[in-house]
Amino acid sequence: MRIIKTKDYEELSRKAANILAAEVIRNPECVLGLATGSSPIGLYKNLIKMYNDGDLDFSNVKSANLDEYRGLPRDNDQSYYYFMHDNLFNHINIKEENTNVPDGTNMDAEAECKRYDQLIKDLGGVDIQLLGLGHDGHIGFNEPADHFAVGTNCVDLAEQTIEANKRFFASADDVPRQAYTMGIGTIMAARKVLIIVSGKDKAEIVKKAFFGPVTPEVPASILQFHKDVVLVADEDALSLCDL
Ligand code: F6R
Repeated sequence: MRIIKTKDYEELSRKAANILAAEVIRNPECVLGLATGSSPIGLYKNLIKMYNDGDLDFSNVKSANLDEYRGLPRDNDQSYYYFMHDNLFNHINIKEENTNVPDGTNMDAEAECKRYDQLIKDLGGVDIQLLGLGHDGHIGFNEPADHFAVGTNCVDLAEQTIEANKRFFASADDVPRQAYTMGIGTIMAARKVLIIVSGKDKAEIVKKAFFGPVTPEVPASILQFHKDVVLVADEDALSLCDL
């Protein structure tokens, strides 16, 4: 694993955006695995800037997002479909038909998970998967468990995740209890992984995930076994690691 330590969130966002942009430049038809949450917002801003400066072209790029709340319509401003359009897709020249997010409105979980796995397969797999890190070590919505889920699955959100995400909703009661997420197997099959982590509140879990034992109790720890992972993290997030 390669670790890039940055001074702060701003530098993290710029350096991580450069890694994603390099992939788009190297392979204009690449498949980007994308994430939502607060971590990638700065990175997406940098990609938009590079696009506006004429340095990036997304016209042949395809994307597949990690996850989506089950039961939220696309036009709900807390859906990940909405987030991706608001924070990235509406500001670059990616084609709508080339963007993919699990369909939270499909209440048939088995059918939706099957569809999404097939879709990723049909895309030829993910070239670079962007990830954030949950406080409990989750990646996508793969919460701590007694096994690593392989394909796309429907998960019950952990209490800690509901707590962390309630800031985006009117109250904790409004946070959906379930989500569709790519599995750990799907994430591990990505040719490259780029994980970004910022803030003191993530220092403990960064140490556990990247320097502790590999266990499904800390889902992100499996990334230690991936052959091409870059962790871009700020000083705060790395403050408990001996580097
Ligand atoms: C988002 C996702 C989640 C987040 C994680 C960190 O698509 O899959 O795993 O990456 O919860 O969230 P933030 O970045 O808000 O701290």
